[in-house]
Amino acid sequence: MSGPVAQSCCTFLVPWITKNRIMVCLLLVNLVLIFLYFDVRQSSSLSSPNPGGKPEEINTDSSSHAPDSIINADFGDPVIFEPYWLEYGIDMAIPAWHSISYLSSHRQISPLIEDCLVDEIRSVHRLVGNAVTQNRHIIIGAGSSQLLQAAFYALSVNDQSPPLKVVSACPFYSAYPLMTDFVQSKLYEWAGDAMDFESTSTRDGYIEIVNYPNNPDGTIRHAVVNGSSGGLIHDLAYYWPQYTPITSPADHDIMLFSLSKFSGHAGSRAGWAIVKDLKVAQLMSKHIMFNTIGLSRDAQARAAHIMRYVVHQYSQKGSAPYRLKTGPDNTTLLFHHAYDTLEHRWKELRDLVVSGARFTLQDYPLAFCTFFGETTTTHPAFAWLKCEQDRDCEELLNSVNIRSRGAHLFGILDPQYTRISMILSLKEFTVLLSRLALLNNSSQTNCESMELTTKR
Ligand SMILES: Cc1ncc(COP(=O)(O)O)c(C=O)c1O
Repeated sequence: MSGPVAQSCCTFLVPWITKNRIMVCLLLVNLVLIFLYFDVRQSSSLSSPNPGGKPEEINTDSSSHAPDSIINADFGDPVIFEPYWLEYGIDMAIPAWHSISYLSSHRQISPLIEDCLVDEIRSVHRLVGNAVTQNRHIIIGAGSSQLLQAAFYALSVNDQSPPLKVVSACPFYSAYPLMTDFVQSKLYEWAGDAMDFESTSTRDGYIEIVNYPNNPDGTIRHAVVNGSSGGLIHDLAYYWPQYTPITSPADHDIMLFSLSKFSGHAGSRAGWAIVKDLKVAQLMSKHIMFNTIGLSRDAQARAAHIMRYVVHQYSQKGSAPYRLKTGPDNTTLLFHHAYDTLEHRWKELRDLVVSGARFTLQDYPLAFCTFFGETTTTHPAFAWLKCEQDRDCEELLNSVNIRSRGAHLFGILDPQYTRISMILSLKEFTVLLSRLALLNNSSQTNCESMELTTKR
């Protein structure tokens, strides 16, 4: 031990220890370090409300939200899944030596894709029965958002015609036009409502995006353009049993899925495409290669780990169907937990809506869900809310500090519709309901006085 710190720490020691200077100095340095350790821990736990990095304890008390606090029901952030993973989740650690290379050993389509993730994706779909994966190519991307761009590229790059028109039936997911036109590609461009397109230009090349259950209105969709020269992309981000009955395995040319809506891990940015045609799959891989050189292998490992856990949990219960109400331990199962939570939220929202005349909601048909082995209905991740008395529903909700996404962003001109998220945190959802109840209990004419009441 040498240096000024060690020397100064020794100078005040009593003479009898001079013989054991080194040992005593070490002891003192250790004591200082232990003191500093506890002090730092204490001060960090005081400054951070969440020292372990885990989410705060759930507080459903709506009164704890100040009336002027903003409830963000605009964004589809799937934090509804957080309590499940907090309670039942598994931890994972990726060793520092792991995934150093750009490349995995999977070389069939792309060396950027982890073998184990492809295997887990296949077994998740086998478990749920929501998509055919046999003899299909699987491409991994940074969320289904990146895969959508990759699919646009693959379907348009060899087309000699002017930019291909990208369409989707109204109301379409609000990000489609933005993602289509953001890169200002010469290969494709946004052309709006697929219904309008059908009546005018079916002879031209086009790409139709079909989304089911549809964001924002939860309906089950089919392609609407009746042309022969188009490419189809099926966005099946919500085709999971917690949101909608699984009626048969989907089997389309290009199907997009997302970890964000499967298990809630939106931050991992993992998405996958199931593709029939090898050439299309290769072009999509090429796009991802030049775009980001693949999805982070850490994220791929995390996604594989989560999927393996979900499949393992269910395989311990035997084979499908996995009935909904067979035992209390069903809440430990991801889809059962998420189904129960969404069903409960939808019941609360519907009860609120029917208790007044101000709002209405879309109705959904019953259908037999092969995964649960019983008849269920759709509980979408978003509610497509209609204001029956007010001209502008988004504006009405804004008046009580609820942010929602107005109809115009989904290609709908009627401002009486707005979209609210059903997958926000329980705390926010509780406040959202209480503010909607206030609106519901007041008529259009006394809206302003109600605003003052809530802000008091
Ligand atoms: C219909 C639909 N498709 C795709 C996505 C994007 O998913 P990802 O997080 O995988 O990019 C969303 C996200 O909200 C969505 O609602």
